[in-house]
Amino acid sequence: TCLNYFSCSFSNVPDGFHCSSQGQFPLTQNVTVVEGGTANLTCRVDQNDNTSLQWSNPAQQTLYFDDKKALRDNRIELVRASWHELSISVSDVSLSDEGQYTCSLFTMPVKTSKAFLTVLGVPEKPQISGFTSPVMEGERMQLTCKTSGSKPAADIRWFKNDKEIKDVKYLKEEDANRRTFTVSSTLDFRADRSDDGVVVSCRVDHESLNSTPQIARQVLEIHYTPSVKIISSSSWPEEGQSIVLTCESKGKPLPEPVLWTKDGGELPDPERMVVNGRDLRISFLNKTDNGTYRCEATNPIGQNSTEYVLIVHDVSNTLLPTTVIPSLTTATVTTTVALTTSTATSATAFSTRDPNALAGQTGPDHALIGGIVAVVVFVTLCSIILLGRYLARHKGTYLTNEAKGAEDAPDADTAIINAEGSQVNAEEKKEYFI
Ligand SMILES: *[C@@H]1O[C@H](CO)[C@@H](O)[C@H](O)[C@H]1NC(C)=O
Ligand SMILES: *[C@@H]1O[C@H](CO)[C@@H](O)[C@H](O)[C@H]1NC(C)=O
Ligand SMILES: *[C@@H]1O[C@H](CO)[C@@H](O)[C@H](O)[C@H]1NC(C)=O
Ligand SMILES: *[C@@H]1O[C@H](CO)[C@@H](O)[C@H](O)[C@H]1NC(C)=O
Ligand SMILES: *[C@@H]1O[C@H](CO)[C@@H](O)[C@H](O)[C@H]1NC(C)=O
Ligand SMILES: *[C@@H]1O[C@H](CO)[C@@H](O)[C@H](O)[C@H]1NC(C)=O
Repeated sequence: TCLNYFSCSFSNVPDGFHCSSQGQFPLTQNVTVVEGGTANLTCRVDQNDNTSLQWSNPAQQTLYFDDKKALRDNRIELVRASWHELSISVSDVSLSDEGQYTCSLFTMPVKTSKAFLTVLGVPEKPQISGFTSPVMEGERMQLTCKTSGSKPAADIRWFKNDKEIKDVKYLKEEDANRRTFTVSSTLDFRADRSDDGVVVSCRVDHESLNSTPQIARQVLEIHYTPSVKIISSSSWPEEGQSIVLTCESKGKPLPEPVLWTKDGGELPDPERMVVNGRDLRISFLNKTDNGTYRCEATNPIGQNSTEYVLIVHDVSNTLLPTTVIPSLTTATVTTTVALTTSTATSATAFSTRDPNALAGQTGPDHALIGGIVAVVVFVTLCSIILLGRYLARHKGTYLTNEAKGAEDAPDADTAIINAEGSQVNAEEKKEYFI
């Protein structure tokens, strides 16, 4: 049979029959196209002696016979016609174009090759239904995601904030056109406060979507009763300090404002106990402030409260330097020592406490120490100047009168007070300085 075709080369082919079946045979490929797209139907023959090629549709109508158009359909066009190829294109493909197309080579007998045209139905944008806003915590929620028009049936997946919810059942129904499908899936769960603000998304994947899924999103709004927590600015409140109690409340809708009470009644001292938003600030703590403080948060769903037991502690006396006015000669040295000691003591004391308390305490303590040091230095300087002036002016008086009383005095001040005529001297000093 191979001898009938002059285009067939014997030298390249080991046996004649092989040559015939391989060369003089139409070759086609199955085609998949998205609805609305263009399908190319290609038919090739490796070896051909000008025998005609033809494309026909699933209804056996001839579309092209060589380069001659046979069916009146503007969507069908010739791409290439030659002795070894007949290619046509079908644009704006519809679902009804799907089926088996045939390429025929008019040898004796006629040889054919079938190409299956698959048309993909594009899923519509999914819709989430069944959402009511807001939902009370504990209520059952049923969200349904639906998409029509997919062929084959699309794949639906659910996500909560981009985390997939596995094993949600889905339902597949044939659409009215009997070709495409409506796929739906229902997410059934109980509303929890942790779901408030969560984005639930329904993702539709389909081979027609070019790996760009269609996504529908729904932000959940869950209403729930308040929860409250009191945070104290100090873990060791002491008399004279101030404390801030913060009432952290959550809830939807947000419970605002919160209500502060003490021992079941109103706050007893509005001067020192000031409520600002969620914060209760008590300044100049006093032992009478001991008690149970309660914060109550209410929203339309319900209310909740929590308590804080305040115990006001004594001021730790070790923190305060017990300063005795030092003698003239050792004044500076003593002051420095007092400062160092008190700083060291307070530093140790702080380290055992709540770090929050640190900020509040450091200021007043340092100020106090600074003040004491300043007073000590000032008094010492005054004493020196006073004494110097006095010595210079009344050398005689000093030696005879003042020294008498001052001899046994433990320090400069006592010396001055003890000395005779100290009142007069003080007056003199004032005048001099003014
Ligand atoms: C179909 O063939 C035409 C002409 O060769 C080409 O431009 C087009 O890209 C082809 N389409 C497909 C889907 O292969
Ligand atoms: C095919 O036909 C054309 C003209 O009809 C001719 O020129 C060509 O040589 C033929 N080819 C073969 C392989 O028969
Ligand atoms: C072409 O599609 C048909 C129908 O879907 C199938 O039976 C056949 O195996 C496919 N052929 C190829 C080469 O994929
Ligand atoms: C009150 O809040 C606490 C946590 O702060 C919570 O465990 C409790 O369930 C809440 N009570 C009500 C009635 O919501
Ligand atoms: C504490 O309060 C009582 C009674 O109001 C008052 O007498 C006392 O001086 C206060 N103490 C301090 C350290 O403020
Ligand atoms: C407040 O608590 C402190 C520490 O427990 C206690 O020493 C003090 O007596 C209490 N004061 C009152 C008025 O309850």
